[in-house]
Amino acid sequence: MSRPSVLIAGAQFGDEGKGKIVDLLVQKGDLDVVVRFNGGANAGHTIVLDDGKYPLHLIPSGILHEETINIIAAGVVVDPLFLVKEIENLKTRNISCKNLYISDRAHMVMPWHRALDAHQGGRLGTTAKGIGPCYEDRAGRRGLRIGDLIDEGGNIDREHFSRRVREVCSEKNTLFEKVHGLAPLDPEAIIQDFFAAAEVFRLKVRDTGALIAQLLRDGKSFLYEGAQGSLLDVDWGTYPYVTSSSVGLAGCYVGTGNCVLPDHRMGVVKAYGTRVGEGPFPAELGDYERVKEQDKVAPGTSLPPLSDEQKQDALAGDEYWMGRWLRSVGAEYGTTTGRPRRCGWLDVVAVRQAVRMSGLNRLALTKLDVLDGIPKLRVCVAYEYQGQRITDFPARVHHLDDYQPIYEDLEGWERLGNATQFEQLPATAQAYVLKLEEWIGVPITIVSIGSHRTHSLWR
Ligand code: GDP
Ligand code: IMO
Ligand code: MG
Repeated sequence: MSRPSVLIAGAQFGDEGKGKIVDLLVQKGDLDVVVRFNGGANAGHTIVLDDGKYPLHLIPSGILHEETINIIAAGVVVDPLFLVKEIENLKTRNISCKNLYISDRAHMVMPWHRALDAHQGGRLGTTAKGIGPCYEDRAGRRGLRIGDLIDEGGNIDREHFSRRVREVCSEKNTLFEKVHGLAPLDPEAIIQDFFAAAEVFRLKVRDTGALIAQLLRDGKSFLYEGAQGSLLDVDWGTYPYVTSSSVGLAGCYVGTGNCVLPDHRMGVVKAYGTRVGEGPFPAELGDYERVKEQDKVAPGTSLPPLSDEQKQDALAGDEYWMGRWLRSVGAEYGTTTGRPRRCGWLDVVAVRQAVRMSGLNRLALTKLDVLDGIPKLRVCVAYEYQGQRITDFPARVHHLDDYQPIYEDLEGWERLGNATQFEQLPATAQAYVLKLEEWIGVPITIVSIGSHRTHSLWR
């Protein structure tokens, strides 16, 4: 009998803890293949082991397991210069990437994409990794794919690649100078940088559609790793404050080029809400302008814990301080950009949208420990708009400020402690999980109570 395959999809606005859950499932579930199918280096998936943090961006989260095959599929937009840095960083930590494969159909993020994103992306609060401009060129049929750089035999196609870069770069430079007032890029320097990068990964390039098909025939078990969160999906997210790819199951089809329906479609849900960058966030705690101003920290650091007085303010209903409480305890700073993440209560309306999009049939609930010590927990179960109770996430998000969250309050707990089984959690924490299950309508089969692999409870 074939072993079950798994989809991992972010069920909120990203950063739900997907990296940890992928690593955990690969460790536990004897999975043979991990496929990243959408997004690019905008993703930051963190795995925590005894020797510290492993932040992954382009490389699938199964990479820490030597024998697991890790595939960057065609739906991912790959910045080759970034990829090489990531491979080399992992090598310094004795991760060999020997079983990493990269699709010849994956579009390449080129230096002009990064420059344009840095110039224009601020309005949306993008990660400035060139993701939007690259997907735009893919749809506009101007893109360069990995196969434009590397041929079927793993050789660098110098002649073809140089010609394409000179053509496209000349068009981009006109746009840069005439429309954006940006300095032109030097195509020859780009060509040389890409040739050097290609040497590092050229032998890893494959037709990953065919490779996945073969591995499926061989009876291998798969985990399909989604990046971003469903509310950032280009169609079903809070458009235009979204990323530029299809998130979840739809992206899995596009990216893998195979008709796969994973048996276990697992949504990853954080026990509260976060969002990075601009855009509507109905159950947000505190005002983002103030957060941007007051909650900046140096990269790699976090805010100090709240003082007793600040905690009192938070508990008395001051939303800024409650948001900051979650940010500080949850270390809610972007893995990719170091920006403070906006924090809020869990929004069931948003999660249900993710359930619908990907047919989620199980959930992993992460960061439950971050809610320790908050006596009253709120969960947004619906919105009120023009006197109506709304339970489907609205399309016209420019009006979202007029949607008032309807909250249900649940009793919190003092400390989750070192539980190793769900039943050892405080009764109110168990009740929180069960209530979420009921409201979302999908079983929660993993409860994560810490960043380390071992801090995970199976149900
Ligand atoms: P991803 O993009 O969905 O993979 O999530 P990120 O890695 O960007 O952000 C999740 C953060 O939460 C990471 O720093 C994880 O190490 C951390 N994390 C994951 N699960 C838990 C948990 O249950 N408790 C705590 N305290 N941290 C967690
Ligand atoms: P993971 O996989 C959180 C957000 C950006 C911005 C918007 C568009 O780690 O969960 P983009 O650079 O994609 O054009 O930015 O999407 N965003 C993410 N937020 N987690 C992510 O990935 C994200 N990827 C993109 O902050 O608001
Ligand atoms: Mg992340």
